[in-house]
Amino acid sequence: MTNARQAALAYAHQNRERFLSELKEFLAIPSISTSPEHKDDVQRAAEWVADQLRSLGMEEVKIMPTGGHPVVYGEQLKAGKDAPTVLIYGHYDIQPVDPIELWTSDPFKAEVRGDNLFARGSSDMKGQVIASLKAVEAIVRTGNLSVNIKWLIEGEEEIGSRNLGEFIKKHAKMLKADFCINPDAGMISADAPTITYGLRGLAYFEIRVYGPDRDLHSGLFGGTVHNPAQALAELIAGMHDKKGRITLPGFYDTVRKASKAERADIARLPTTPKHFLKQTGVPALWGEPDYSPEERVSIRPTLEVNGLLSGFTGEGSKTVLPAWAMAKISCRLVPDQDPDQIYKSMVKYMKQNAPRTVKWEVKNLHGAGVAITEKDSAGVRAMAKGLEQVWGKRPFFKREGGSIGVVVQLQKYAGVESVLTGFGLPEDNAHSPDEKLHLPTWQKGIDAFINMFYNIE
Ligand code: BES
Ligand code: MN
Repeated sequence: MTNARQAALAYAHQNRERFLSELKEFLAIPSISTSPEHKDDVQRAAEWVADQLRSLGMEEVKIMPTGGHPVVYGEQLKAGKDAPTVLIYGHYDIQPVDPIELWTSDPFKAEVRGDNLFARGSSDMKGQVIASLKAVEAIVRTGNLSVNIKWLIEGEEEIGSRNLGEFIKKHAKMLKADFCINPDAGMISADAPTITYGLRGLAYFEIRVYGPDRDLHSGLFGGTVHNPAQALAELIAGMHDKKGRITLPGFYDTVRKASKAERADIARLPTTPKHFLKQTGVPALWGEPDYSPEERVSIRPTLEVNGLLSGFTGEGSKTVLPAWAMAKISCRLVPDQDPDQIYKSMVKYMKQNAPRTVKWEVKNLHGAGVAITEKDSAGVRAMAKGLEQVWGKRPFFKREGGSIGVVVQLQKYAGVESVLTGFGLPEDNAHSPDEKLHLPTWQKGIDAFINMFYNIE
């Protein structure tokens, strides 16, 4: 190992406490991108990231407007034209915190309990953003980066990166790089370093079913007016058959069959049915019987009810026939499904199945494209070696069930491939109460990033 590498690793170890306190500062900003009332906080988080980049000596640091929340950009191109250029991606926005009453501590006052740091965004993904910032800090404070770097830190990942595609198209030249490191994809478990080579896409809908023009007395009208809550429940129930297959017309038409070789690779992953039972606490697993649980969360598409709302849900009882009902429904997509095509399938299903007794509408909220990335490239090799140097074992390669809009957008509009990795764990409660970051894994992640930079050929 080179001395420069050792010096950077030593710097990172000596500064762990300060890195943690800076992460806590970042986590105190409630940058919830979906909530208009947090717009200023989202902006503040962008400024916080820009300040970090400036303090690392990055150049051209800018908070750049988009149709929504801004993008933070910065670069250091000192390594010169012949050196590789690495783009580092991150998002500074976070998911909402509700149900707030289920949090053990304030989601915006990061608290260490045991080996974990609890706060919204700690794992997904402010902790990962700090890990990449601090790896670069360790290198530039102890020596020089031998590659050029560019930063793309966005504020709309958790709402489908809906303005980022335009932004990348417009700034394709600025973002040009040999590869992008994206640490938003997490790992299988604390002792299983992971490189992700595929992500599912997403199509997200809001369905509203309308009945009477106002809430009615259920005694006076129950039995003669179709209850919208019931009509919606019937429609939702019909979206899967008994085998867990989705019934929207044409839903599977473009699904590419996974190869035998890929299914064999999946079977070798350590994510057994037991793993899923343990991670979730459910009494039994559910889903298409012809596929293993790992396959069902990676190479198979799904349809999920994210939320339901109708009628009286307060304490006590109220005999009412509600005027309307609403469901938030999303589909995870696989190659070669397309979010807009799936929206059309949903509308078709509603046309074919909604009863004449109610009115309805389907809103297309947002989507994310399906991504498959290279399994072997200079970037993948540098990252895989970095993970191996820290964990002492080669990383697992897998496809993930989550979605990250930027991956396809970078492929399509800038011709940049992503290396997907990360140091978040399945049990980190991402998007849930008591989100946390496993600090020993996070610290290893910083070391892995430092190694990755020194491994680039
Ligand atoms: N970090 C996740 C995505 C993820 C999770 C990738 C687990 C791989 C493994 C990301 O922040 C996220 O939650 N994305 C949203 C995107 C959506 C709103 C378009 C998701 O997947 O729900
Ligand atoms: Mn994320």
